[in-house]
Amino acid sequence: MVHRYKSYIRGFDEELGGGIPEGHIILISGTPGTMKSSVAYNILYNNIKHEDSVGVYVSLEQSRENLLFQINSLGLQDVEELKLTILDMAKIRKEVDMTREKPWLDVLKRHLNYLKETLSFDLLVIDSLPVVEMISKVEDARAYLFYFFEWLRDLKVTTFIISEISTDPTKVYPEEFLTDGIILLTMERVNEVDVHRRIRCVKMRGVNHNTGYFTLEFKDDAFQASQAI
Ligand SMILES: Nc1ncnc2c1ncn2[C@@H]1O[C@H](COP(=O)(O)OP(=O)(O)OP(=O)(O)O)[C@@H](O)[C@H]1O
Ligand SMILES: [Mg+2]
Repeated sequence: MVHRYKSYIRGFDEELGGGIPEGHIILISGTPGTMKSSVAYNILYNNIKHEDSVGVYVSLEQSRENLLFQINSLGLQDVEELKLTILDMAKIRKEVDMTREKPWLDVLKRHLNYLKETLSFDLLVIDSLPVVEMISKVEDARAYLFYFFEWLRDLKVTTFIISEISTDPTKVYPEEFLTDGIILLTMERVNEVDVHRRIRCVKMRGVNHNTGYFTLEFKDDAFQASQAI
């Protein structure tokens, strides 16, 4: 039996048909401010607290302090330091020459290999994967991403990749085909003045999940999903 990770979003796990299968690469996508980072962190946090997982959170766009500011406001900070490593790649990204071909990806892989050996982590978040930047210089973008994902699979971890989506709904990106699952976060205007957060499982290979939209809220120290109205 494959182990399944819970999302720890109340009301949503039931709709995920038992959870996210171990070893999957999951895309968490959404426009700015849809709580992508918080949802991903929340999965790591709770699986560490309740399931004895070890997590690594790679923050490529936000400094560690900035991410922790958000995390603290949600009250999700009391976790054993050895069990959750936040790798702040912002500095490294500044140092590497972005015009040369993908050197930062090699830096990232080196770090992850080292952490795997020393911490033996099972959950990984990459926030966020600059797919456009990664593949713009590569002729066969899909193959390039494919090999990176294969590398992640060989690492024997379950990965959450955060991706920012444009507001153009007609665009489809290669990572959407290559990942095993997609969790979409949106903001919907529900009347003249109110905008609600929504969550939807677009795909999850090997899982009989609900494909509908749910309203997403953070209250009483936890994420909750309820029937969207
Ligand atoms: N305590 C809180 N309870 C509920 N919502 C909060 C709380 N603190 C912050 N937020 C919301 O969380 C949002 C930011 O969440 P987060 O950083 O996870 O989003 P994101 O999708 O990763 O954003 P970005 O596109 O900038 O990466 C804020 O805009 C705010 O609306
Ligand atoms: Mg974010």
